[in-house]
Amino acid sequence: MGKNILLGVTGSIAAFKACDLIGLLRKKGYSVRCVMSRDAKWFVTPLTLETLTQKKVIDDMFALPGERNPAHISLADEADLALIAPATADVIGKIAAGICDDILTCAICASDRPVAFAPAMNDTMFKNPIVQDNIKYLKEKGYHFIDPVEGHLACGREGMGHLAPLENIVDEVGKILEK
Ligand SMILES: Cc1cc2nc3c(=O)[nH]c(=O)nc-3n(C[C@H](O)[C@H](O)[C@H](O)COP(=O)(O)O)c2cc1C
Repeated sequence: MGKNILLGVTGSIAAFKACDLIGLLRKKGYSVRCVMSRDAKWFVTPLTLETLTQKKVIDDMFALPGERNPAHISLADEADLALIAPATADVIGKIAAGICDDILTCAICASDRPVAFAPAMNDTMFKNPIVQDNIKYLKEKGYHFIDPVEGHLACGREGMGHLAPLENIVDEVGKILEK
């Protein structure tokens, strides 16, 4: 039986890569369900993610999705693993602080399954001591991180903060699920 992945997509310039990531995860036999932060919709549309996953994308915690409610609980319960890719500095900070102000952060808070973050952001944001403290704190709590790599950043610089190669993300998901 294929495992269920809850893929959280956030408002990073790398959000378009979630589209290819869905294809790679599905090729491995995983069933993928997407959940979006509010700002992710600036970068990629629910329609795109819905078409690629063949599953309804819930992007509004208060909309009636026509399925078992509340949606953040059913999404969390359905998933064998939650993957947030790309993960913004914002979502990392919110989850570290226990904030649950949208469907994505609520579903992650409601999950007792493994959660993995694949951060993507500007190099200065990634080096920011508050972001680093949030990552350290979440790692101590058992959350997984698929570290970003050095590469070309949207701001035009080369630096650390480029989303990890998608194949690495898929490999890490497999390893976490095998544990
Ligand atoms: C063009 C553009 C690109 C952005 N890219 C990133 C990014 O790669 N990583 C990041 O942490 N924030 C990025 N941001 C800032 C986030 O979009 C912002 O913090 C947003 O509130 C994140 O919301 P979310 O975490 O709920 O998705 C970007 C903003 C803009 C306008």
